[in-house]
Amino acid sequence: MHNRKVPNPQDELKKQAAVYAVRFVEPGMTVGLGTGSTAIHAVREIARRHAAGELAGIKTFATSAEIASAATHAGLPLLGPQGPVRIDVTIDGADEVDPRLNLIKGGGGALLHEKIVAQVTLREIIVVDESKMSDCLGGKHALPVEVFPFGCESQRAFLETLGGHPALRMDDPHQPFVTEEGNFIYDCRFGPIADPEELAAELDTRAGVAAHGLFLGLTDDLIVAGAHGLRHLQRDRVTGKVREVSVK
Ligand code: A5P
Repeated sequence: MHNRKVPNPQDELKKQAAVYAVRFVEPGMTVGLGTGSTAIHAVREIARRHAAGELAGIKTFATSAEIASAATHAGLPLLGPQGPVRIDVTIDGADEVDPRLNLIKGGGGALLHEKIVAQVTLREIIVVDESKMSDCLGGKHALPVEVFPFGCESQRAFLETLGGHPALRMDDPHQPFVTEEGNFIYDCRFGPIADPEELAAELDTRAGVAAHGLFLGLTDDLIVAGAHGLRHLQRDRVTGKVREVSVK
């Protein structure tokens, strides 16, 4: 029997966005590799260009073991877990994107590594299909909150005081999902989040919260693939203004 691959239109869109983003990777750059079903397409395209001799001297830094393994197998030079102090460009996915290019991330569980990488990246490029676009963060996706296992029940109660409905992410009915840093994740439904900065500030100062999936002011470029083609939006780091750039 033939094992025929069924085309997946959403995956095609993810691939288009990711492949487009890779044109901003240049020889000699240090490149952050995001995690997820969209970011993996970027890894494959970087590897293709690297094998073709177009990206001599690049170094990569992966946000998860899965992506590190994919990068190594594809022949990309990978930095160890201590990582670089600065990254030229990172290409990553997102679960939800608002008009200010703020994000919810962490559906794949790599939010802590992804935020560490985003915070040292000069140009953070987010690649999504159009289903991720949202008028208000929280309207579509629960907010992942990574917590230390110690005292995690108190974090559930804390998240409830913030108006959330936390559910411990599970690997199977009996085992909590454990992140690469050994932590748990509460997927916390808030509904539309009116003030993401305020919520982020509450979570940032809470002992025992290792990371949360609100990525605010970290996106420089957004590539969105939809039924009518690609869009490229750019955010100015100083003014926060978002403008549309023509896609060639
Ligand atoms: C990984 O932890 C996440 O932040 C992903 O970047 C996000 O969930 C998007 O994943 P997909 O590209 O698979 O939708």
